[in-house]
Amino acid sequence: MAPWDLMSNTAPARALGARRTLPDAPFLVAARGGRPARLPVWFMRQAGRSLPEYRKLREGVAMLDSCFDPEMLAEITIQPVRRHDVDAAILFSDIVVPLKAAGIGVEIVPGTGPVVEHPIRTKAAVDAMPTLEPEQVSRVADGIRLLVSSLGETPLIGFAGAPFTLASYLIEGGPSRDHAKTKALMHSEPEVWHALAGKLADIALTFLRAQLDAGVDAVQLFDSWAGALSVRDYREFVLPHSAKVFAGVAEYDVPKIHFGVGTGELLTSMRDAGADIVGIDWRIPLDEAVRRLAVPGAPVPVVQGNLDPALLHASWPVLEAEVRRIVEEGRSAGGHIFNLGHGVLPGVDPDVLTRVVGLVHSLEP
Ligand code: CP3
Repeated sequence: MAPWDLMSNTAPARALGARRTLPDAPFLVAARGGRPARLPVWFMRQAGRSLPEYRKLREGVAMLDSCFDPEMLAEITIQPVRRHDVDAAILFSDIVVPLKAAGIGVEIVPGTGPVVEHPIRTKAAVDAMPTLEPEQVSRVADGIRLLVSSLGETPLIGFAGAPFTLASYLIEGGPSRDHAKTKALMHSEPEVWHALAGKLADIALTFLRAQLDAGVDAVQLFDSWAGALSVRDYREFVLPHSAKVFAGVAEYDVPKIHFGVGTGELLTSMRDAGADIVGIDWRIPLDEAVRRLAVPGAPVPVVQGNLDPALLHASWPVLEAEVRRIVEEGRSAGGHIFNLGHGVLPGVDPDVLTRVVGLVHSLEP
């Protein structure tokens, strides 16, 4: 019998507040602005193609099918924890999983990314969009319950795509460099835009609440492509919808991380959306990010980041110096969670990731 067959009979849905606390987990201590025993480190996209054990398990299984197989998603989520000794696991899933679960036609095409069967560009298409019911992601929740019982003291991060990044895939029909159709719709038909972003906020929220009810210890909202927007557009068209997602999970009292790429000009707005921790890409140093995020009289900001993932391909002396620089710059933060500035690139040597973890752990927290 597979472990998740056992699980579904025995594990009740977690009530609010019934969550494990893991008071000494370095990731959670730093996330709350405390001083952990060691500097926590995890990597965006740590699960996935950089690992041979992942490629072996995924052979012949479509990406989105693996995300709805509780046993497989749990095993893939644990693989990088086992191999690298990272301080947090991130749920193996994808930002389009809740869209697929709701019944929207979307596939992940290897080497391309999410591709949408019928792009959503009109009021009629937005009105026809389905909502997400928690039962539609019950297999993800089953995988999370499996993970919580097998991860030991390692926290599990749940996540969702933010309304803007999801909307871009739905409007463009696939990955886009310039988000031209998305920006055009936003400005030309703001009511259609707000209706779409509002529906996506509800989907992201339902997905996150299902993950939290199943036991994740923190959440990250990925607004990967928000950096394409001006501050003015971000605040008018995006912030209210992302704020609705954060407000909807506030009662769970878990750390909430907000991440995007190229968001140096948006950091304070992304914080204002309701995040406890802002993820920083490699374009600005962490001490500068902390300076931008600081609010007089408030606790010193907590940040996550920000090694350039491309530098995992550099020579070790170069990489080591970069890691040390980032850790030094992170000392100005109220808490620092070491990470990359964006996801692991597929061709990386996994031993380099393990070595980075060892180095981060060897440094004064
Ligand atoms: O380890 C982790 O971080 C957890 C897994 C994770 C995946 N997708 C697995 C995945 C996470 C957190 C995501 C989020 C995600 N998906 C984002 C936000 C984070 C970011 O990178 O900015 C975005 C924009 C997507 C959309 C998406 N899905 C893209 C752009 C791609 C890459 C397409 C390709 O093949 O190059 C995917 C597919 C995807 N998601 C893969 C994985 C492991 C690769 C598919 C495979 O292994 O076959």
